[in-house]
Amino acid sequence: MQQTFKLRKFTPSDLERVVYINRTCLPENYSNYFFLDLYERFPETFIVAEENDEVVGYIMCRIEIGLPNFGLGGLIKKGHIVSIAVLPGYRRKGIGQALIGKAIEGMRKYNAKQCFLEVRVSNTPAISLYKKMGFEISRVIRGYYADGEDAYLMVRDL
Ligand code: ACO
Ligand code: ZN
Repeated sequence: MQQTFKLRKFTPSDLERVVYINRTCLPENYSNYFFLDLYERFPETFIVAEENDEVVGYIMCRIEIGLPNFGLGGLIKKGHIVSIAVLPGYRRKGIGQALIGKAIEGMRKYNAKQCFLEVRVSNTPAISLYKKMGFEISRVIRGYYADGEDAYLMVRDL
């Protein structure tokens, strides 16, 4: 199938649209400052997907220092996928997969060795996407979300 979307780095002029997509797709919402702060600190891992010159999806991440989520060893840099969403009309076209792939390229530029994220245990589409991208469930985080739902911590090596 012909790919109809393009990926590029987020710029501050995308803020309003990304906030809209976040609020449309997820109950976890953030202040404008939160989005801009991630962009300023980690521009290589804040990616948007465009179709017909309109942003339809985003991924934003943070680089953290900590112990590996699996395996042995001392402190490493880890890429944390903070939020990813694709507008409903544009799903199942590979945009989510492409956004994660591009964000992982950015994480490698920051020298991250692992990548992790939290996801609602009920979020089958996202869990399927992450498994397809090589993530494994590392553990359950009880009551992680504001409404009490548990999260899976999912991890992969970079
Ligand atoms: N059911 C089953 N498997 C799915 C589904 C689904 N609804 N959606 C995606 N997958 C799996 C499939 O294996 C799919 O490959 P295939 O289409 O060849 O079968 C693979 O993931 C890749 O799918 P993409 O088309 O790349 O993913 P999409 O662009 O649809 O985006 C996303 C997936 C981001 C999870 C989207 O459904 C979404 O925005 N959901 C709402 C927001 C959300 O839940 N975000 C994740 C929260 S956790 C976090 O942000 C860290
Ligand atoms: Zn997180």
